[in-house]
Amino acid sequence: MRPLIAAVDLSAIRHNHAVAKRCAPERQVFAVVKANAYGHGVREVVSVLHDVADGYAVACLEEAAEVRAMDDRARILLLEGCFEPREYLIAAQLGLDVVVQGERQAEALLAAETSRPLNVWLKLDSGMHRLGFDAEALREWHGLLHGASKVAELNLISHFACADERGHALTEQQVECFLGLLDLDFDQRSLANSAAILTIPAAHMDWVRPGIMLYGATPFADLTARELGLKPAMSLTAELIAVRDVAVGIVSAMAPPGSPSVLRASASSAAVMPTATRAMHPAARRW
Ligand SMILES: Cc1ncc(COP(=O)(O)O)c(C=O)c1O
Repeated sequence: MRPLIAAVDLSAIRHNHAVAKRCAPERQVFAVVKANAYGHGVREVVSVLHDVADGYAVACLEEAAEVRAMDDRARILLLEGCFEPREYLIAAQLGLDVVVQGERQAEALLAAETSRPLNVWLKLDSGMHRLGFDAEALREWHGLLHGASKVAELNLISHFACADERGHALTEQQVECFLGLLDLDFDQRSLANSAAILTIPAAHMDWVRPGIMLYGATPFADLTARELGLKPAMSLTAELIAVRDVAVGIVSAMAPPGSPSVLRASASSAAVMPTATRAMHPAARRW
């Protein structure tokens, strides 16, 4: 059997969810469980958060359906919205919240024969330039969707590009851009990912969206998870399957040019091939 174990501490995820709640008191939390809960197992994560989660955020309808089967109460947000017009029908059946991040999605929503109105999150491109309407287009779509029969709540959402780099000028511009739209009538607002939950209270709005912090990792290069009060959720253990002696100057297979010839085990290299390389030079012992 492969000598590799990934152990997930679900109580740590519950603890980290509570940290997010404490950082953003009175706010509601969409626990980001897309991509199989960042590889931690969506079923397990949803079960451990079942009685505390206000909602979950997922990347696609398949993930949403899986979460809905386990939790018929929580709100479930489709972060990228519906990929095809017919998905709106299923989103309505499952009672999902949908992001609307572009014109095609907005038009398809208005044309959809849904069984009930949906909670819609209009996505603002506040500076990341990945998805969303610019401020002017968002104002127009707000006018078209507000009060539309297909829309239950009309909400505002945006995403930070680099809130994990503390003090980055773009982050402040993104907050300003978001605030600049709050003269419009929105039911709910959401802006903060983990980095902003932990360090930018002005971005907390009504719903926060923690991802990486739930799993116990720091978003920052200069603040450790421990300093932030987070508990690591996953630990990897692997047995070494080979130890090689090589001459100084020989580059080990996966080492980038210029790196020392002694490799320290990393999660990714251990996951593929748990090996270690010893350089035959006394100075290497420093490593
Ligand atoms: C729209 C959106 N919100 C929230 C998150 C969670 O971000 P983080 O893992 O930085 O907390 C993500 C993650 O990619 C995202 O795409």
